Amino acid sequence: MDDAALTFAEIRQEFPGPNAEPPTRVLDGISFDVGRGEFIAVIGPSGCGKSTLLQMAAGLLAPTGGTVRHRGRPVVGVNREVGFVPQQAQLFPWKTLSENVELPLLLRGVPDAERRSRVADALRAVGLDGFERHYPNQLSGGMQKRGSIARTLIYKPDVILMDEPFGALDAQTRMVMQSDLQALSREAAATVVFITHDITEAVVLADRVVVLSQRPSRVLADIAVTLPRPRDVFEPFRNPGFEAAYEAVWSRFRTQIAIGHRMH
Ligand SMILES: Nc1ncnc2c1ncn2[C@@H]1O[C@H](COP(=O)(O)OP(=O)(O)O)[C@@H](O)[C@H]1O
Ligand SMILES: [Mg+2]
Repeated sequence: MDDAALTFAEIRQEFPGPNAEPPTRVLDGISFDVGRGEFIAVIGPSGCGKSTLLQMAAGLLAPTGGTVRHRGRPVVGVNREVGFVPQQAQLFPWKTLSENVELPLLLRGVPDAERRSRVADALRAVGLDGFERHYPNQLSGGMQKRGSIARTLIYKPDVILMDEPFGALDAQTRMVMQSDLQALSREAAATVVFITHDITEAVVLADRVVVLSQRPSRVLADIAVTLPRPRDVFEPFRNPGFEAAYEAVWSRFRTQIAIGHRMH
């Protein structure tokens, strides 16, 4: 019996080097579970293999060693039961917002009328109703990101994988998106694996923060964040316990990043 939504068990990954150069060892035995309904943030230095790990959960890449299990079953080949929001919002520029958002339903053969009502629901959920006929280049970066999230939520994936989804947004838009994601994920009791390099974002959103080390990366710490919900994402320092949780993550993370002398 495996109660976890997602299990990473002793995951290793090496990529072949160019020409005769030795392979790059990226992941060096990563193990952690994601419980059903849990919101996990994964934080780690640039290039440590965070995106690589998510691709494995989506079944887009087979690990060199170890196993990813989804609800107890090994992920082999593309995993259509998980939703994947990649780093760059990738709405098709030649399709309208609603055409983009309905795509996963088309691929699954959902009938016309149901498609229309689910597109309307999904767009409303991310605050984009009224923009159905707009093309991606007529939307702001934040709106495109919302569209990308709507396209993922629309088929009610069992697990939502998000790879630094708000990294490219301006600070205000990011906070609004964090707030909306908190509400959406609570409402849907969603299981989320959220990659970020932002400690505040990790602490304010997650139930647990997994800290990865530099390449070849291992799990440095797995920290429970027990701040009461809903949390204030706009003034994160107002959440009781925020400072202690931030410090717990930072004290592990800081050992992995290069810091100039004056920062000590
Ligand atoms: N397909 C690939 N072929 C070769 N090397 C890769 C490939 N994908 C990723 N890498 C290497 O693996 C490391 C981790 O990449 P990535 O998972 O994107 O890191 P992160 O998301 O943590 O910044 C990097 O050094 C990158 O160059
Ligand atoms: Mg990445």
